[in-house]
Amino acid sequence: MAHIKLDVLAENGYAILGDGPAIPPEEWEGLEYVDWKSGGDTNFAPLASAKGEMECAGFWDHGKPDKDGIWTSNREIAPTLCKYVEAVGARYGRVRVIKLNPSSEADALRQLHQDDNNRLNPDGEGWVVRSWLELNAPEGSQFILREVRDDPSTESRIPLHPRRQLVIDTERLYHVVHNPGPNPRYALITSFESGPVLDRWIASQRLEAAQRV
Ligand SMILES: [Fe+2]
Repeated sequence: MAHIKLDVLAENGYAILGDGPAIPPEEWEGLEYVDWKSGGDTNFAPLASAKGEMECAGFWDHGKPDKDGIWTSNREIAPTLCKYVEAVGARYGRVRVIKLNPSSEADALRQLHQDDNNRLNPDGEGWVVRSWLELNAPEGSQFILREVRDDPSTESRIPLHPRRQLVIDTERLYHVVHNPGPNPRYALITSFESGPVLDRWIASQRLEAAQRV
């Protein structure tokens, strides 16, 4: 039996949604960050982890798939972000704020990678994908996505701005964010289980975007 996947991600592997809520800057500036390198010169603030500890390790280290995350002490500092995740309604695993320091575009491209989202994910359950809520999105920052790592013809680029929401199958697509600087870029990243609940949330966010046009 295969994992449940979302039709909306079938063609491209990603979905661009309407803008999410504005988040008070103190909710990402005041968090406790740990040194964790992924996709460049990064630090991460864990909001939900496998056991509620201040760590970024894969849930498989604790014998569980990337689902049923437990809030860390950072929840007290970022209540709006945590409520935002809960309001989606789908099962969530890792929830983190990334702090990405600036780099050249060439350095960013060297960091293109796939995520390991579905280790220990039982067959028949929903495929784990990731959502982004951009927090400060420095001018000129962009997502770079590729189906084939070293083939630029398979590339999509998504310009980022504060409040931009994205859902990406990051185990399928190679991905990286290029932040030209001069300041760090902050974003909320959540592992969500694919299924009817996430599907409805994505549809609702797309509808809102259409209505705003
Ligand atoms: Fe990644």
